[in-house]
Amino acid sequence: VRVMRMPRERTYIMVKPDGVQRGLVGEIIKRFEQRGFKLVAMKMKAASPELLQQHYADLSSKPFFPGLIAYVGSGPVVCMVWEGTDVVKTGRKMLGETKPLESNPGTIRGDYCIDVGRNIIHGSDSVDSANKEINLWFTPEEICEWRSMEEPWVY
Ligand code: PPS
Repeated sequence: VRVMRMPRERTYIMVKPDGVQRGLVGEIIKRFEQRGFKLVAMKMKAASPELLQQHYADLSSKPFFPGLIAYVGSGPVVCMVWEGTDVVKTGRKMLGETKPLESNPGTIRGDYCIDVGRNIIHGSDSVDSANKEINLWFTPEEICEWRSMEEPWVY
């Protein structure tokens, strides 16, 4: 019997240029995979200032805005969509706090960074912003629907 399942929650996760340059992409993917989330889209991209201004539009009046755009545009980023139960909130817990000083050891920021202006990773802060960010960074064709094989020889 096939059971119709609810569409699963998705979040937008982005390894920022410092995370890429420090070789932390694999570690970050590993943590999301091992937690049990499903990778449904991924690409590397040198983001334009225009794209980043859209992504961070809510922060345009903040004093750190120009610096943030310059930092995230300073090299390629790795863009990902992760899927699974409560992935937005759980993803944010896995990232740690915005300020590395407040991030507990065991979180990504708590383990790998010390500076809010170089905090290696972005994760959507709500289901609403996740949907906006996924649409901004990915086309529908770039997102893959897939399931584990259910054949008995795969275990
Ligand atoms: S705030 O101040 O409440 O708007 O901050 P927050 O919503 O937690 O963070 C929004 C993003 O801005 C980044 N940020 C900063 N960048 C550089 N310098 C300073 N001081 C700073 N403060 C916040 C923060 O990392 C968030 O970016 P993302 O990419 O979403 O993590």
